[in-house]
Amino acid sequence: MASLTASRISPLHFPNLSSSNSRIRKVGFRVYAAENNPEPDLSVKVNGLQLPNPFVIGSGPPGTNYTVMKRAFEEGWGAVIAKTVSLEADKVVNVTPRYARLRAESNGSPKGQIIGWENIELISDRPLETMLKEFKQLKKEYPDRILIASIMEEYNKPAWEELIERVEETGVDALEINFSCPHGMPERKMGAAVGKDCALLEEVCGWVNAKATVPVWAKMTPNVTDITQPARVALKAGSEGVSAINTITSVMGINLNTLHPEPCVEGYTTPGGYSCKAVHPIALAMVMQIAKMMQSEFNNGEYSLSAIGGVETGGDAAEFILLGANTVQVCTGVMMHGYGLVKKLCEELKDFMRKHNFSSIEDFRGHSLQYFTTHTDLVRRQREAIEKRKAIRKGLASDKDWTGDGFVKETESMVSN
Ligand SMILES: Cc1cc2nc3c(=O)[nH]c(=O)nc-3n(C[C@H](O)[C@H](O)[C@H](O)COP(=O)(O)O)c2cc1C
Repeated sequence: MASLTASRISPLHFPNLSSSNSRIRKVGFRVYAAENNPEPDLSVKVNGLQLPNPFVIGSGPPGTNYTVMKRAFEEGWGAVIAKTVSLEADKVVNVTPRYARLRAESNGSPKGQIIGWENIELISDRPLETMLKEFKQLKKEYPDRILIASIMEEYNKPAWEELIERVEETGVDALEINFSCPHGMPERKMGAAVGKDCALLEEVCGWVNAKATVPVWAKMTPNVTDITQPARVALKAGSEGVSAINTITSVMGINLNTLHPEPCVEGYTTPGGYSCKAVHPIALAMVMQIAKMMQSEFNNGEYSLSAIGGVETGGDAAEFILLGANTVQVCTGVMMHGYGLVKKLCEELKDFMRKHNFSSIEDFRGHSLQYFTTHTDLVRRQREAIEKRKAIRKGLASDKDWTGDGFVKETESMVSN
C-alpha cells in the first residue's frame, strides 16, 4: 500500500466542486481506517445528474439502438451517451468495411494486441423518429438512470432548435453536442467543421444553449492546435461541460501486398478517426490542458469535464480523474470487450482508491494537475534539487565546522552507504 502524507491527500486539488467528503485523514490512522472503511464510493454528481459510477458509454456503436443501450444500463454503466443523431438520417450513408485495427506487433499481425482503431463511420443512419422512440422507452424503463443524447446538425439555427426540442421531449437527461465528427460530416459543415472554427462554434453553441433546458456538454475534436481554445469558447457560450476527445485524424496503414490503404472500400479509403489505447496519452494531455484552463478560468463548481480516449482499465480512468475529469467515457473498449467491461472498470477503480485510502471520486479528482508545469520551471527545480543534493553530500568543509549538537547528523552527511 503506498503511503500518503496527510498534506498530500487532505486538500482538494481541483476545487471547482465542493467536496462531499472533506474529512481529514491522519497517516497514523491509515491502517485502522483502511480496515474499517466502507467500500469506496464511485458515485458522482455532475451538472445536477446523479451517476452510480463515473463510467459512461461514449457515443458510437455501443449506444446505437434500444437493445444495446438497455444492455449498458443492465450491466451497470453510470450513464449512456447514444450514437449521434441528426434530423435527416437518410443523408447518412455508411460504407463497409469501415473499421481498421492496429496491433502491437507488426502491422496486420493477427496475434498482436489491438492498440489502435480507425473508423470511417458516420453518425447514426437510423431514422430520428426511431431513435427518439427508443430514448423515450429507455427513460420509461430506467427513469433513474442517465441517458444523454448526442446531437449534430448543419449550420442552420432552426434545424438545431428543432432537433433539440424533439430530443428533449423524450426525457433525456442531457445533451452532448458533437462538434467533433471528423469525417463525412465536415463536408456538410457539421461536426469538426464547427468545432475547429471558434467563431462558428461560438455562434452554434449560443443557439444550442439558448434553446436547451437540460445540461449541455460540448464534445471537442482533438484535430486542432490548441484544444483549450474551442473548450473555452463552448463554456463561455453557456455549455455546462466539455467532453474530450473525439477521434484523431488517421490513416491506419497501407496493405503492402495489395498497395491499397485500410480500411479498404472498393480499393479506396478516406482518412478516418483514431481511437483505442494508442490515443490515451494524447487524450490525457488534452484533458490536462482543458482542466488547467477550467481551473483557472471557470472555477466556480458549475462546469464539468468528461474525459474520453483509450480507456480499458480502471487505472486508465483513474488517470483521467486525477487530471480533473468528472466522468470517463468508453467507446472502443466496449466494442472490443463487451458491456461487462464496466464491472472490471469499477473493481479496478475501487482497488486504486483502496490502495490510496480514497473514499470518494472527489477525494482525488484533479490531484495530479498540480504536477504539470513549464519546461523552464522543470529546469529551475532540477537545478535547485541538484544544488541541495550537492550541499548534503559535501558534508563538512573543514574540521573546525564540527558541532556538539549536530555531531551525529554531521557524521552521517559524510557516510557513503
Ligand atoms: C466506430 C466509432 C463510431 C463513433 N461514432 C461517434 C459518434 O457517432 N458520435 C461521437 O460523438 N463520437 C463517436 N465516436 C467517437 C467516440 O465516442 C470517442 O470519442 C473516441 O472513439 C475515443 O474514445 P475510445 O478510445 O474510448 O473509443 C465513434 C468512435 C468509434 C470508434
